[in-house]
Amino acid sequence: MNYKQWLAQQLAGKFEGLDRETLADLIEYPPNPQMGDLSLPCFKLAKQLRKAPQAIAEELKAGWTGDESVERVDAVAGYFNVYLNPAKFAAQVVGEVREKGDRYGSQNIGQGRNIVIDFSSPNIAKTFHIGHLRSTVIGNALYKIFEFLGYNSVGINHLGDWGTQFGKLIVAYKLWGDKDAVEADGIAELQRIYVKFHDEADKNPALDDEARAWFVKLEQGDAEATELWRWFVDISLKEFHKMYDLLGVTFDSYAGESFYNDKMAAVVEELKAKNLLEEDQGALLVRLDDYNMPPALMIKKDGGTLYHTRDVTAAIYRKNTYDFDKAIIVTDAGQSLHFNQWFKVVELMGYEWAKQLQHVPFGKVSLENAKLSTRKGNVINLEDLLTKAIEKTRSIIEEKNPSMENKDEVARQIGVGAIIFNDLSNNRIKDIVFSWDDALNFEGESGPYVQYAHARACRVLGKADPAEVTAAASLNPEHLTNPEAQAVLRQLYLFKERVEQAMHKLEPSIVSRYLIDLAQSFNHFYHQCKIVTADEAEVRIARLALTDCFRTTIRNGLALIGLEAPEEV
Ligand code: ARG
Repeated sequence: MNYKQWLAQQLAGKFEGLDRETLADLIEYPPNPQMGDLSLPCFKLAKQLRKAPQAIAEELKAGWTGDESVERVDAVAGYFNVYLNPAKFAAQVVGEVREKGDRYGSQNIGQGRNIVIDFSSPNIAKTFHIGHLRSTVIGNALYKIFEFLGYNSVGINHLGDWGTQFGKLIVAYKLWGDKDAVEADGIAELQRIYVKFHDEADKNPALDDEARAWFVKLEQGDAEATELWRWFVDISLKEFHKMYDLLGVTFDSYAGESFYNDKMAAVVEELKAKNLLEEDQGALLVRLDDYNMPPALMIKKDGGTLYHTRDVTAAIYRKNTYDFDKAIIVTDAGQSLHFNQWFKVVELMGYEWAKQLQHVPFGKVSLENAKLSTRKGNVINLEDLLTKAIEKTRSIIEEKNPSMENKDEVARQIGVGAIIFNDLSNNRIKDIVFSWDDALNFEGESGPYVQYAHARACRVLGKADPAEVTAAASLNPEHLTNPEAQAVLRQLYLFKERVEQAMHKLEPSIVSRYLIDLAQSFNHFYHQCKIVTADEAEVRIARLALTDCFRTTIRNGLALIGLEAPEEV
């Protein structure tokens, strides 16, 4: 049930030219229930209808013919306010949540169309750091939100597994590498020799030439280069998989940059044939002056390909393979220019679907004003972060609930949940100054707070007589008309709309913030109203039904942002 649409339908045609869509866009949920459950501000209509807002509201009130789901209507200060019948509203919401269960909040907006989501996409041989965590959790949440709304999400981990840096790494390894050290320390060791390469190359630029030459060899399929490269990739993937397992994130494809190695030549030919390539000092580029952008470099003067070459090729490959409706790439805002150039090149190639490509940027993560840079080795290691969060949870559990059975499992679910939620609690575009205290703060508006509320509902339901939990048929909604229960119902009702907004704005934080509101409404209800201990069976049954609907909804919401919902904490 969509009450905005329903009210718009009721009011459409009350004035000439006033249609349902216009009304649905204007109708809002007043911030305070005293002002009604639904409200139509008449200010924007005043001009079109040539009437004062209050006069419009009064007329709507006078013309209201009544509806059993509405208790009363009012016209106040230019607003037409509708007060729903609380019992009818309760019956409607509880009925819908119970009927849909784990699909409550889902819709079929996508109708099975494909959406490609390029996310996480870390660089091989570099630490998986907090910046990649953002891409991973935002991308994963969008993946789930699109799926929930009827799309077929295709998650692609576009690994940074190709490029000049591999030439550097090969040179570094040949000069200073130690097989055993790499086997033992993995990425940390690769990173160490990579940083050393940069320090040395500052003094001896010939090293850079050597690195470029090795990358060209790699692109040409040289056996030694390929073998080393594959080894670096395997070592790195092993570590990335540890992170993904902890986070509970999976991908449909790991086609990264190297995947396009044998597909780029055809695209370069196509660019030539379409007269888009220009030679400049031996390099080939696409000029973008007309669009106020620097040129997109496609082939370096040594013949090597670039990030752009691989991305343009990837766009075409993805369109051919997945026939997507939309393809999004989740990275930090610092790469915006690259994406604008990339999409423009695809458009200039004559592909009208270029407009289906979209960059989903997020704010940078900085550490006490120092820019995160892998090169300088100044990073927060994600494995450290997750491990600390899990340990902290483990010690809280040990203190508060020492007899719990699956402590390790729950510590992981809550610790990781805290980190994910912390990342998703602000608008994605906001820059983050990383602080250990914030990331490990489980109080207030945090993932653990939401997970605790879910576990609390599970505990209440566990204590109740199972027959009363399922006795929905004898639910008397009159027992859910008190303000505390109505506040929970209002939140439950809003879930579907919030998920849809999150999809349209590509903004998972809309779901996380909603979950805080939902959890708060339930906690308030729980503290104010007896549930299992209520005297009358009818009251217990109604409150248990509400608790059950809360549990379903909060669990569905947590799943959408990639958090697990342990039943006991
Ligand atoms: N590997 C890049 C990075 O770590 C992100 C890649 C994003 N995807 C893409 N198709 N360019 O910054």
